[in-house]
Amino acid sequence: MVLTQTAELAEIRAQRQAQEAELAAAIAGLIEHRFEIEALKSRLARLQRMTFGRSSEKLRDQVEQLELTLADIDERAVQAAAEQLAGEGGSVRAAVLDVADAQAVDELMHGAAGWGGGLQVVFANAGISAGPGPLREGGNIEAVDGGRWQRVLDVNLSGVLFSIRAAAKEMNTGYGRIVVTSSVAGIRAEPFVGYAYAAAKHAVVGLVRNAAVELADRGILVNAIAPGLFRTNIAAAAPDREKFLADLSRTALLGRAAETTEIEGLALFLASPASSYITGSVLAIDGGASALRNSL
Ligand SMILES: NC(=O)c1ccc[n+]([C@@H]2O[C@H](COP(=O)([O-])OP(=O)(O)OC[C@H]3O[C@@H](n4cnc5c(N)ncnc54)[C@H](O)[C@@H]3O)[C@@H](O)[C@H]2O)c1
Repeated sequence: MVLTQTAELAEIRAQRQAQEAELAAAIAGLIEHRFEIEALKSRLARLQRMTFGRSSEKLRDQVEQLELTLADIDERAVQAAAEQLAGEGGSVRAAVLDVADAQAVDELMHGAAGWGGGLQVVFANAGISAGPGPLREGGNIEAVDGGRWQRVLDVNLSGVLFSIRAAAKEMNTGYGRIVVTSSVAGIRAEPFVGYAYAAAKHAVVGLVRNAAVELADRGILVNAIAPGLFRTNIAAAAPDREKFLADLSRTALLGRAAETTEIEGLALFLASPASSYITGSVLAIDGGASALRNSL
């Protein structure tokens, strides 16, 4: 009897010790995970950022301790964004430039690289509309205007080439992230947007993939974001804007357009060390629109 009790007690003790060891391992794991998150946060906070395009002002919550160069063709908009970000603790410089001007982009990028800790992140986000696409009034192929075609390619395609090219030259810290804004219109047919827009957004995907091949050895990761419908200023002047928004909203599984803040997480992720094994990718952020269309 005593022997049995002793054996049972020993077994209970062994079980308890095993449970305690398991608990201790779980706590150690949690602490380690927390350290990883803290390390990630502080590395992110130290990143120098360079952004093209006003939408990136929405990164403002993350800007404390960052050194940012904002550049946009719209002086009023870029100044306002820079003031706002500076007011929230960021170290910000603003520049007015046309991304289709290769020399201006080179000079800006060179200036940014010489400021603070060197150039580490470039967000090539500027873009313009090409007007209506083939499923909207005035968007058929005979209506494609040569001047507008060229300007859209200059900004939406050449501007991205100039940005990646200048970034590749200036990124020399061992940490590099280039994020380019393409579109769902760059990964499948999007009959609501103009021909030049669709062509340029497809083409930048090619640029991103080739640059990813070339720059991988230098630790520079190059990726594209492919947004679906976001409520921004890009189609503000379109006479059928509300109908366009309503029609396109229906193509998203989520049944609505996105707010600009909803792109921040993906842009920051691709800028951060957390994206260390992602390059040459095109990540859709479209409320499920491409999943639905691609499955038809
Ligand atoms: N809004 C959408 O639904 C949507 C969908 C897919 C992709 N995109 C892309 O997202 C990016 C941002 O656009 P948005 O929707 O925020 O529009 P937006 O018009 O609000 O912002 C675009 C910014 O780019 C700037 N810009 C335009 N031409 C420029 C040039 N030549 N040089 C420098 N800056 C210039 C504008 O002044 C503006 O601040 C674009 O590349 C656009 O094609 C938008």
